[in-house]
Amino acid sequence: MTEHTQMDATIYACRRARLAAKLGDGVAIVPTAPERIRNRDAHYPYRYDSYFYYLTGFREPEAVLVLRGGAQPQSILFCREKNPEREIWDGYRHGPEAAKDRFGFDETYSEAELDERLPDLLADQPAVHVHLGSDALWDARVLGWINAVRNRARSGVAAPGEIRDVHCLIDDMRLLKDEQEQALMRRAGVISGAAHRLAMQAAGPGVGEYEIEAVLQHEFRRSGAQAPAYTPIVAAGAHACVLHYVENNGVLADGDLLLIDAGCELDGYASDITRTFPVNGRFSGPQRAVYELVLAAQAAAIAAVRPGAHWNAPHDAAVAVLAQGFIDLKLLEGSLAAVLEQETYKQFYMHRTGHWLGLDVHDAGDYKVNGAWRELQPGMVLTVEPGCYIRPGPGVPEAFTNIGVRIEDDALVTAQGCEILSAGAPKSVADIEALMRARHV
Ligand code: GLY
Ligand code: MN
Ligand code: MN
Repeated sequence: MTEHTQMDATIYACRRARLAAKLGDGVAIVPTAPERIRNRDAHYPYRYDSYFYYLTGFREPEAVLVLRGGAQPQSILFCREKNPEREIWDGYRHGPEAAKDRFGFDETYSEAELDERLPDLLADQPAVHVHLGSDALWDARVLGWINAVRNRARSGVAAPGEIRDVHCLIDDMRLLKDEQEQALMRRAGVISGAAHRLAMQAAGPGVGEYEIEAVLQHEFRRSGAQAPAYTPIVAAGAHACVLHYVENNGVLADGDLLLIDAGCELDGYASDITRTFPVNGRFSGPQRAVYELVLAAQAAAIAAVRPGAHWNAPHDAAVAVLAQGFIDLKLLEGSLAAVLEQETYKQFYMHRTGHWLGLDVHDAGDYKVNGAWRELQPGMVLTVEPGCYIRPGPGVPEAFTNIGVRIEDDALVTAQGCEILSAGAPKSVADIEALMRARHV
């Protein structure tokens, strides 16, 4: 991975202090992600856990944060020891000593000491905040530490009476992006927007979807982004009607639309952009009709992104525009009320209009609070991504079949409304056609 921009260690220390305050007298245990084998000796590119990274800024595997709340909060990192032999093969390791100074922990230990030290850290603590249920080996380890404390009961030591999910406490923090996070996400949006422009210019009949994928990846890495934030979708023609198409092994044909859903990850933060455009540079009549409809739905949804609006307002706005459009295009029959009530629009628009965006592409944070949609607040970042996918079927007009369109932008909620972080990628018909005409001059 390319070296990250080093964030100020005090940012992470502040986040730990805020979490410690929420813990009361409890302890939180947050591990980073394990390394994963792809096949035999080859690993998947390593990616730290987003919760762990949010609280530490530490990117090495085999690390665990233990945070004690109460009157004297303490943050303790367990990490790999220095190892000159392994560092020859795999590169630099901080080791506990350097990690303590550089990242501002109160104490640091070798991860080899976890099993020995954790029972002491959990003794006489009323609650342990930990995330269970994602990794059976981790779950067993945590329960082993708790049982080790329980086994000391006769010597007067109390084991935690409560096990609570630590993610719940961190989710609300992650939902509101601070200025550093906003700046990173803005940059990620600029890089991804530029990559989409280049992809539009590289497209044409006979070009492979995989070649376009390579253009995107090249621009991401060239610009300093470490990775795509998710597997890019480069879907020409009927492939665009497969929502998670990732083979990217087809060839672009004259007359097809090309749907590209791709965004980079920059210093841990995701961007997530979709653009759809004609391979030959000019929308056909039916393609344009569907495209303009989705664009109008997206405009309505973006207009609904402002502080105080509830989470579902952009979705409701997009669905209302799409449903009327499906009727007007004779894709659906019946009144608008009936199409909405019976949800027949889902034949052509079957997904939600967005999700939180941040360290994870589908970022942390509940969408409802106490049963009601969450209110948007400045600092939240969400995607706005309506679409229309017309698979062949009874009653579906031939002219529209296999047209798949999605338009996705990343919106930062501001005091007035929202800032679109992905505006560098053109999306009006005129702007797309102008950019594509410029390919040939
Ligand atoms: N690229 C994933 C999504 O749009 O949700
Ligand atoms: Mn998305
Ligand atoms: Mn996307």
